[in-house]
Amino acid sequence: MSNPIVEQINSALEDAEKTLAAAQNEAEVEEVRIRILGRKGLLPSLSGGMGALSPEERKEAGMAFNTGRERFQSFMDSALKRIKASARGNGGRQLDLTLPGRRRELGRKHPVVTVIDEAVAIFRRLGFIVADGPEIEDVYHNFDALNTAQSHPSRDVADTFYFADGRLLRSQTSTVQIRTMESHEPPVRIVAPGRCFRRDTPDATHSMNFHQIEGLLIDHEVSMADLKSILQMFAAEMFGPEVKIRLRPHFFPFTEPSVEYDFSCIMCGGRGCNVCKQSGWLEIAGAGEVDPNVLKNVGYDPEIWTGYAFGMGIERIAMLRYRINDIRLLYENDVRFLEQF
Ligand code: PHE
Repeated sequence: MSNPIVEQINSALEDAEKTLAAAQNEAEVEEVRIRILGRKGLLPSLSGGMGALSPEERKEAGMAFNTGRERFQSFMDSALKRIKASARGNGGRQLDLTLPGRRRELGRKHPVVTVIDEAVAIFRRLGFIVADGPEIEDVYHNFDALNTAQSHPSRDVADTFYFADGRLLRSQTSTVQIRTMESHEPPVRIVAPGRCFRRDTPDATHSMNFHQIEGLLIDHEVSMADLKSILQMFAAEMFGPEVKIRLRPHFFPFTEPSVEYDFSCIMCGGRGCNVCKQSGWLEIAGAGEVDPNVLKNVGYDPEIWTGYAFGMGIERIAMLRYRINDIRLLYENDVRFLEQF
C-alpha cells in the first residue's frame, strides 16, 4: 500500500541528488536546501499532513522524514566539499600535498660580472685597490680634467649622452682617475670597473652601454716598462701564460706617450684566424703614461709624480673568453643565453 508522504519524500530525494551533483556553486546548494528543508520547504509542509495518516502510515512517514533529512544533508555536504575543492585547486584540480615541491632555480653571475670579478681579483693580487665614481658625470671630469681638447670628437652630442643641464653619462671610466686623485694624495694604485655609455649604433660589437676597467698607478719614476709588465702579468693571469702582448703607438688626450695594447690571439695562439682577422693579435684597450697636464689638473706636481693609466673593455674580454659573437646577447636578459655560464 502506497504512502503518499513517503513517495513525495523519495521523489524529492532523487531530484535533489541530481541537482546537487550538478551544482556549480554554494548558492545553488543553498537553493536546494531552502526548497527541501527551509521553513516553507517540502519537508516541513509535508509534516503538516501527518495527522491524516493511520498510525501505521505515520510510523513509516516518520522514518522516511528522518532518513530523508540525513540523506539530503549528505548530498549537500558532498556537493559543498566538491565545490570548495575545485575553487581551491589549480584549474579545478585539488591541491595534492604529497607531490614534490617545485624547485626554485638558483641564479648565477652574468658573464660581464664574472669577468669584472676576475679582473679585479688579479689586480688586487698585483697591489691595486678598487675605486669607484658616478655614472652621471660632469664635462669637467669626463673631458676637461682629462686634458681633452675642446675640438675632440668624443665631446660631440653625437657621441656622448648629455642631460639638459649639461651633465652627461660618462663615456669612459677614466673619470675615476680624476676623482681618485682629487680626493687622495699620491701614491695611487687603483682599478675602477664600471659602466660607460656612448651613442653608438648597436651592432655585433657595439652597445650603447658597456663596461670598462680602468687602472691608474701614480708613484715616483713610473715607466712604460712598468706599464708593460703589469699588462703582461694581467694577460697571463686572465688568458694563460702563453699569451703575449704588444703595444702600438696611439693617441689619448690624458696619456703621453699613449698606446693601444694587443694580446696575442687566444683563439689561434697567434697563427691567425677569423676572430683576430688573420692578424694573430686582439686589440684589448688603451694605455699610456699619465699626461703631466692631468697631474696638474688634480694638484699633483708632475716634477715629483709620474704614473701610468690603462683602460680595457670588459665585454670584449667576456666575448673572447666565452666565444660570444654578438655583444647584444649580453644585454637581452634571455635566460636561455645566460644559463650557459
Ligand atoms: N679611456 C680610454 C678609452 O675609453 C682608454 C684609456 C684609459 C686609455 C686609460 C688610456 C689610459 O678608450
